[in-house]
Amino acid sequence: MAEISHQVHVALGARAYDILVGPRLIDEAGSILAERFPGRRFGIITDENVARTHLPRLLAALDGAGIDHAEIVLPAGESTKSWAFLGQAVEALLAARLERGDLVIALGGGVIGDLAGCAAALVRRGMGFVQMPTSLLAQVDSSVGGKTGINSPHGKNLIGAFHQPKLVLADLSTLDTLPARQFAAGYAEVVKYGLIDDAAFFEWLEANREEIFAGGPARGEAIARCCAHKARVVIEDETEQGARALLNLGHTFGHALEKDTGYSDRLLHGEGVAIGMVLAHRFSTRLRLAPGQDGARVAAHLRQAGLPTMLGDIPGTLGATETLMAAIAQDKKVSRGALTFILTRGIGQAFIEKNVEAAQVSDFLDEARAG
Ligand code: GLY
Repeated sequence: MAEISHQVHVALGARAYDILVGPRLIDEAGSILAERFPGRRFGIITDENVARTHLPRLLAALDGAGIDHAEIVLPAGESTKSWAFLGQAVEALLAARLERGDLVIALGGGVIGDLAGCAAALVRRGMGFVQMPTSLLAQVDSSVGGKTGINSPHGKNLIGAFHQPKLVLADLSTLDTLPARQFAAGYAEVVKYGLIDDAAFFEWLEANREEIFAGGPARGEAIARCCAHKARVVIEDETEQGARALLNLGHTFGHALEKDTGYSDRLLHGEGVAIGMVLAHRFSTRLRLAPGQDGARVAAHLRQAGLPTMLGDIPGTLGATETLMAAIAQDKKVSRGALTFILTRGIGQAFIEKNVEAAQVSDFLDEARAG
């Protein structure tokens, strides 16, 4: 019997699925998959780093359950989310003769989850897929909710499809080998859920941050609470016609900064989100919507978690404000000079504002550069 510490159901009717959280679910994947998807073959998509640490465990688990599989190992890193590697993955799935009823397994972090999900959406007009997220960011955010895709030179995640997984297996042991910087980056997405509409969860994080980082029971609980939160949002607004956009808190600034730093090691996605969430609070304060002390409290918590919180924390020189503004406009589309932003009235009180003047954002960014 698999040891499952938390289970969340994403009730999406015909596309419903479970998120299982447990200490060693990769080792137990053979029996879980054999029971849920009897007789199916699996195409595993992973990256070179994850292939070294976790792929042998997964292969042993599948072999142990007599499950047939193929493996596709791609380079690690954000630049893998491209047409070139999506094409490679799609062709490899076809070459492995996977049929429509077979499944893709995304074994890795957010990059692999997004790319493998996109490949699954395309091959034979839609194969099922299983998310096996191996980073904190993927376990609390990107593996849940069915957003799949790749990046374009025009911006991040601009190409893709909504395609829900059939199962998410979050193996907590993968977080023990995650580099500290990657763990902290994922933690930014954990904090995000508190900032959106759950001030009590933010307070709980303030009290439990050390235990979460140390790998105590609060870690699994935090992940399950984030997944439950995300499941609620996705059930209400699967294709982001409304409330799901709140999950983009901090992401418009963050994506612009990621683009400006070339999707490189200078700034990880979660680090961009951390700075972006602080900027969203500070911008809301500048617009006289939110008290300044809330933004300061958010920044203090993220700093304690080892995250950057200011533009000046990004190594190297940032592009001009106009360059950042061009990225912001592409990320969230301008409508007659106005931008859509996730703003806030304070911790746990985020909201969608569709009428932000580009000039106000630009002035604010000039100010934020100064410190
Ligand atoms: N990561 C934001 C969303 O899934 O909607």
